Amino acid sequence: MIKQKKKGSWLTINKVIAHRGWSGCAPENTMAAFKKALEFKKVYGIELDVHLSKDGVPVVIHDFTLKRTTGIDGFVKDYYYEELKQLDAGSWFDEKFAGEKIPTLEEVIRLTCAMRDDFMLNIEVKTIADMYKGIDAKIYDLIEEYGIHDKAYITSFEHHFIKRAKKSYPRLKTGLIVVGNLLLLKEQLKCADADMLSIHYAYITYDTLLTAQKMGIKLMAWTIDEESMIKRTADFSKEIMICSNYPDKVLKCFRK
Ligand code: G3P
Ligand code: CA
Repeated sequence: MIKQKKKGSWLTINKVIAHRGWSGCAPENTMAAFKKALEFKKVYGIELDVHLSKDGVPVVIHDFTLKRTTGIDGFVKDYYYEELKQLDAGSWFDEKFAGEKIPTLEEVIRLTCAMRDDFMLNIEVKTIADMYKGIDAKIYDLIEEYGIHDKAYITSFEHHFIKRAKKSYPRLKTGLIVVGNLLLLKEQLKCADADMLSIHYAYITYDTLLTAQKMGIKLMAWTIDEESMIKRTADFSKEIMICSNYPDKVLKCFRK
């Protein structure tokens, strides 16, 4: 949680994370979207999605396939980085973003470190089983190189991957992504030795909150763009990080 001034007094508000960058106003997971988010000083952090190119470069794109955001057929994993970097990942959103590239994870980390001292980076690894062998090592090396152990979290829907990554790199901060109200939430977080729970906002309950608080685990709710849901989440706790495509809308809610 952070403090913001309202009518002369201080108000505690939730930390706001820009989902795929500020993807409401620029093409998701592009440098344009990340820059916009980071320029907005009240935005605390950014969320992004990572895959591996055919030659093993961590690249930032949401889908497993290229069609939706670049118009090209095929899977990200089947293209070399040199090929991926030729693609236009901006025009689908708006012609004015033509020429925006699929960034590498390193480019996004470098930009974030250059623009901010205090931030949170939520690196979601889009993997299924062990399809991206060695991706944890590549991300860990970047985290180490840029000295952002306290700021970067690796998260995934693939909980086995998260568990393995933490075991291999105990210094790594990790998080489980869940959609649903898990029967064995506490056990699952413990089993994976996770530092964060990244949960679909609709499934937040006081039990979830209590479990996370008791375990000292950070809680992030995604992806909330609607005012009543933003307020509902903030009412649960100011400690929940709110991940949104429209961080401006979230912050506007706190001013009302
Ligand atoms: O990081 C949580 C959230 O981004 C998961 O959903 O589909 O937007 O990657 P998705
Ligand atoms: Ca994501």
